[in-house]
Amino acid sequence: MEALKRSITDHGLEWLYTGQPGQFIEDSLRRFANRQGFWAGLRLRNELVGVLGINNVNDWTRSAEVDYALGPGFRGKGLMTQAVRAMLDYGFGELHLNRIEIRADKENTKSCTIALRLGFRKEGTLRENIFYGDRFGDQVVHSLLASEWQALSANKDNG
Ligand SMILES: CC(C)(COP(=O)(O)OP(=O)(O)OC[C@H]1O[C@@H](n2cnc3c(N)ncnc32)[C@H](O)[C@@H]1OP(=O)(O)O)[C@@H](O)C(=O)NCCC(=O)NCCS
Repeated sequence: MEALKRSITDHGLEWLYTGQPGQFIEDSLRRFANRQGFWAGLRLRNELVGVLGINNVNDWTRSAEVDYALGPGFRGKGLMTQAVRAMLDYGFGELHLNRIEIRADKENTKSCTIALRLGFRKEGTLRENIFYGDRFGDQVVHSLLASEWQALSANKDNG
């Protein structure tokens, strides 16, 4: 637990939690135990460089959300796009999800670009749907359906 806390702090991933890193880790483990999702570490040459997870899993609608963050020194190399692609394979292929969302702050163009690059469709904006402690932010919702992911994967395999 201590090593994990240090890793999160050392890599500038504090945005993940509003309280203490230990609490974030415990909350994540509880959600995992309740089958509500999970966070995974992204490692490059055995170093933790980022995290990504499948959250807010709804078993009835077979939908979920993918969230992610990279340490500041590892951005601009395509690592997260590649990692999210693998997570989509897992979400649609292993968890049999039908719909995956990526929600990003309207101002977070880097995150919105990842969604669009992977074939997500922009659905709209949730006004003041996120609170940063001192201000609200608008969130853009992007979604990808299992049928669309299959079609994209088939196109990739064919050429
Ligand atoms: C959101 C976040 C993960 C995006 O990081 P990123 O480095 O832009 O994302 P990727 O790893 O997919 O890399 C894409 C970049 O690598 C470049 N790249 C290089 N090779 C690439 C490849 N093979 N495939 C895709 N992109 C590639 C792209 O051109 C792009 O560069 P650009 O930013 O100059 O346009 C990062 O900004 C972050 O962690 N922010 C803080 C947390 C956060 O906002 N999380 C999202 C909350 S919704």
